[in-house]
Amino acid sequence: MSIHKVIIDADPGVDDAAAILMALASPEIEVLGLSIVAGNVSLEHTVTNACKLVGVSGRRDVPVFAGASGPLVREQVYGKYARIGSFDDKLVKAGDVVPAEESAIQFIVRSARAAVTAGEQITICAIGPLTNVALALIQHPDVARGIRQIVSMGGAFTALGHRTPWAEFNIYADPHAAEIVFQSGVPIVLMPLDMTFQALFTADHFERFRAGGEAGAALYNLFTTFDRSDEKRFGRPGGPIHDATTIAWLIRPELFTSREAFVGVQVTGLTMGYTYADFYNKMNRPSNTTVVTDVDETGFIELLIERIVRHGGEAPEIRTTGGSHA
Ligand code: RIB
Ligand code: CA
Repeated sequence: MSIHKVIIDADPGVDDAAAILMALASPEIEVLGLSIVAGNVSLEHTVTNACKLVGVSGRRDVPVFAGASGPLVREQVYGKYARIGSFDDKLVKAGDVVPAEESAIQFIVRSARAAVTAGEQITICAIGPLTNVALALIQHPDVARGIRQIVSMGGAFTALGHRTPWAEFNIYADPHAAEIVFQSGVPIVLMPLDMTFQALFTADHFERFRAGGEAGAALYNLFTTFDRSDEKRFGRPGGPIHDATTIAWLIRPELFTSREAFVGVQVTGLTMGYTYADFYNKMNRPSNTTVVTDVDETGFIELLIERIVRHGGEAPEIRTTGGSHA
């Protein structure tokens, strides 16, 4: 089994919670740390939420780093459930994990450089606005050499947007950062709404999270409190868990179908945050992105549930490479 060394760059967020807890229960993934960005809620709250998730997972060896508090250029926007702020203690048990002193950007830079020195590369799972990742790449271009791939949840092509008619939230929240990352030369694997909308989780699936100890209970509480269904749009009950597709892709890529394309981002005007993919090579530019187009719905749902349920069994093996302790 090959083990991916991964930084999860996140803005928790209920989707992020599922992705983080899935990764922390997966032996195929060594989570070096969580680099946190503002997005669904303010940075103060995304950091608190990340610390609470590490607490309920029992994986206190995984450090949490605070990063950018706002986008590079545009005005700040938050997610649909911005009002929730920090996860209520009734939903996700309070713990005593605190963030590390080092910034998330410095952590990304340090980890990528250490990987180069060790003759290996890391993966970044980017499941929030891309501000932290863009800052690391702009401020220290050499770090690109230490990054094998950025597996990013973001964008919308044929499905079009959910934050605006054209834009998916993570790209809309910092389109300039997204464009920097897409054009950075680091291979991108993109999980757009077109694909994440294909796997819908229902009340029966959430019920099964409850076998996953404190982590599973936290996810059950979050997903049954914050309704993510949209029957008008999906034509059936249930809602997507976008961010967890990045982790599933690393563990079981055979569950997904993809196409290569040059991808770019519209950074100004009414359509700010729109992502375009040149699937038919009209722009005559080499592919910069593996666009994931389809998912095996049942395979992905069962994989996520199976990993969350593992939190209810024996504690996952603790790994200690990389990062400082929170
Ligand atoms: O568009 C989905 C993304 O934005 C996810 O990362 C989720 O956390 C949301 O707010
Ligand atoms: Ca997110």
